[in-house]
Amino acid sequence: MNRITDDIVYIGVNDHDLDLFEGQYIVPNGMAYNSYVILDEKIAVMDTVDKHFGEEWLSGLEEALSGRLPDYLVVQHMEPDHSANISRFMDKYPAAVIVASAKAFTMMKNFYGQEYADRRIVAAEGTELPLGVHTLQFIAAPMVHWPEVLMTYDRADKVLFSADAFGKFGALDVEDPEGWACEARRYYFGIVGKYGAQAQAVLKKASALDIRVICPLHGPVLQEDLPYYLNLYNIWTTYGVETEGVAVFYTSVYGNTEKAVRLLEEKLREKGCPKVAVSDLARDDMAECVEDAFRYGKVVLATTTYNADIFPFMRTFIETLSEHGWRGRKVGLMENGSWAPTAAKVMKSMLEGCKDTAFAETQVRILSSLSEENIAQVDALADEMMK
Ligand code: FEO
Repeated sequence: MNRITDDIVYIGVNDHDLDLFEGQYIVPNGMAYNSYVILDEKIAVMDTVDKHFGEEWLSGLEEALSGRLPDYLVVQHMEPDHSANISRFMDKYPAAVIVASAKAFTMMKNFYGQEYADRRIVAAEGTELPLGVHTLQFIAAPMVHWPEVLMTYDRADKVLFSADAFGKFGALDVEDPEGWACEARRYYFGIVGKYGAQAQAVLKKASALDIRVICPLHGPVLQEDLPYYLNLYNIWTTYGVETEGVAVFYTSVYGNTEKAVRLLEEKLREKGCPKVAVSDLARDDMAECVEDAFRYGKVVLATTTYNADIFPFMRTFIETLSEHGWRGRKVGLMENGSWAPTAAKVMKSMLEGCKDTAFAETQVRILSSLSEENIAQVDALADEMMK
């Protein structure tokens, strides 16, 4: 049995068969759907798991219960990767009661046709649920990642059940050589990124609590070095700069735009840029590119004019950034066009909604392939990005 504390047992599952998490994110290391049991005079189960793992989850729960019966199912988040087994649980344990927000019960009815009117406790910010030694205190966390979300704080063991926050892509039985931050960042900016203000508001509430353990709904339980994780979340939720350097994103049809990008990369390195991260938007994982755009404070976008607009992958990329609330970055633009380059103008206008964007004065304008003038422009752009 996987004990988190004397009374809290992990009963989550690992998914190695998922092609796309939430229908869009590749998960090369699989995915974990976490669930926990708090064993006290009363027993609370924290969330269920994805629909494909009902059997495995219920059998893990049964083992953790050692013959006892659960009193409560706390539903912190209604997204089906966590709520899919509510009905199975409620059928198996007819005396159990669901604890969730009012919005969660409405969603329960919409998703599963039941809102358990006579077997429920409606919880909100500040509601407390005494279990015996443990008392659960609920914290409203709207839009982290859906509007119904509650986080839960256990005062006895000083554990924060953080719902989707502090989650990460990857199954728990697969070692991630890149450490926690890489897949946690891709997960955060893909899934919660747009709602930085709401996530920041919850972090502020959490900062008043004495937290020793964070139990998220995905990814590992965080027990050591909590300031490291909290600091990263603080940077991410405030759209701060995590890594000094320049991120360059490009598309290239015949390799000429890429050539300009590689020259820029070389010049930035020569000029002492601490880190240059280059991504090909047509070939690299889009979610990985999005997280890098949030990670660095300076970004260069290089693309081809296409149908009097910009190349499709760059369009998708900028639209995704804009929709995720990307802001506060310095942006350099490079365009390529054989007869009427318009890409820089289009990119600039697409970024108009991104708050506090500062554009580099130098724009690189390639007419098919790199000219001597372009080489000088790339050098000037590198100088500007280094400032
Ligand atoms: Fe892990 Fe928003 O569901």
